[in-house]
Amino acid sequence: MTGFILAIDQGTTSTRAILFDGEMKVAGSKQQEFTQHYPASGWVEHDPEDIWATVVATVKGALKTAGREASDVAAIGITNQRETVVIWDKATGKPIHNAIVWQDRRTAPLCQKLKKQGLEKTFTKKTGLLLDPYFSGTKIAWMLDKVKGARKRAEKGELLAGTIDSFLIWRLTGGKVHATDATNASRTLVYNIEKNVWDDELLSILRIPVAMLPQVKDCADDYGVTEKSLFGAGIKILGVAGDQHAATIGQACFEPGMMKSTYGTGCFALLNTGADLVRSKNRLLTTIAYRLNGKTTYALEGSIFIAGAAVQWLRDGIKVIGKAEHSGVLAAEADPTQNVYLVPAFVGLGAPHWDAEARGAIFGLTRNSGPAEFARAALESVAYQTRDLLDAMRKDWKGASVKTVLRVDGGMVASDWTMQRLADILDAPVDRPTILETTALGAAWLAGSKAGVWPKAKDFARSWALERRFKPDMDATVRSAKLAGWRDAVRRTLSTP
Ligand code: G3P
Repeated sequence: MTGFILAIDQGTTSTRAILFDGEMKVAGSKQQEFTQHYPASGWVEHDPEDIWATVVATVKGALKTAGREASDVAAIGITNQRETVVIWDKATGKPIHNAIVWQDRRTAPLCQKLKKQGLEKTFTKKTGLLLDPYFSGTKIAWMLDKVKGARKRAEKGELLAGTIDSFLIWRLTGGKVHATDATNASRTLVYNIEKNVWDDELLSILRIPVAMLPQVKDCADDYGVTEKSLFGAGIKILGVAGDQHAATIGQACFEPGMMKSTYGTGCFALLNTGADLVRSKNRLLTTIAYRLNGKTTYALEGSIFIAGAAVQWLRDGIKVIGKAEHSGVLAAEADPTQNVYLVPAFVGLGAPHWDAEARGAIFGLTRNSGPAEFARAALESVAYQTRDLLDAMRKDWKGASVKTVLRVDGGMVASDWTMQRLADILDAPVDRPTILETTALGAAWLAGSKAGVWPKAKDFARSWALERRFKPDMDATVRSAKLAGWRDAVRRTLSTP
């Protein structure tokens, strides 16, 4: 057996397959974007067939670029955009509707109705989540209600549901395995994270038949073997985790108090709280960081919906930059005497505000404000939002060992200016690792360690290497004044200030 491990990273806007060698180095990779569907305002869908086609094509492409065969691969690890959900026909494997994506707000009225019935406490107590359209449960309920005959068919056991990992496992194994892992289950709004079971009470509130849900496994577990006809040889699937959880693993945040933040479309910060299921009093989420050998490790999570998407807005929306990587250079040219704030509530605000109705706003414009001030405001908004999360985490978890070092990854972290500003605003060091493919690496590690060809957690953690530490270097009075300006801007943006 070789040490080659294939990671499939099925993200919100693209699918990537990365082949790692036995030294955990990238041997080949392939990426493909796919179409986003916006059928109505606030609705976001993916065609599951597009997702499937990009998975098959990128796996083949990654093997080809590395000059390897499926038979060289010891195992596959899958990581995925979380919460996005598919329902498909058990007999044919055909989806009954497009996948409803995590960003989709169509179930806001249902969430509101459940809140009015006083049910948020019940959901939060059992799942660690809030009644927000972000999570899968209300999306499944919506499909069962709206797709003709769906609920009857689900009750008869003819339909299956699952997050993207689950749909891919089903397809990859030729319909033999219907499973998911504990991290993906923990984002559905119907999984009891304390008891580690699908929760009957929550399922009955949303009228979801339990038989349509996948079996929940450890993150490193046996998820079956890919159909031989797909890649030329069957490959074992031995690792599965939601993308933010895989990044936590890839960043080797195995100890309580360790924290990572991933800056992709949005930003998701996870603080490992070990065996402690910490109940947030500050509107953070409690989630399963990972489950290994039957042992659950929990995390506090702060979810921000717009991070890299603010840079995309600079490039594609107001067109002040030609390329995303120019944003830091432009921001550095901004006039230090101007106080321009952007609150990027383009799709509402996530943690800790959870305001689905808020919309983006910009404050402090003068006659001299221009592209540089806009760029700085966009990049700083990401730092301020991270600071809000960190403050909430510090209040929620007084774990003695909270190390306020943030391990960062994702596209935005390539910008030195942004990372320095992040450290300045957080007043805490920011560590950028040498390997930035942490999400894929985390999924690969789950599979590789399960296959026995990659090191165990301790040795894997030792292989994490620092590329650069950004230390806070901002005068405390300047920081306080900037934070006060940000908080005022957010207060003015909230739908109910
Ligand atoms: O919760 C949503 C998150 O998992 C999406 O991640 O990287 O696909 O935007 P990404």
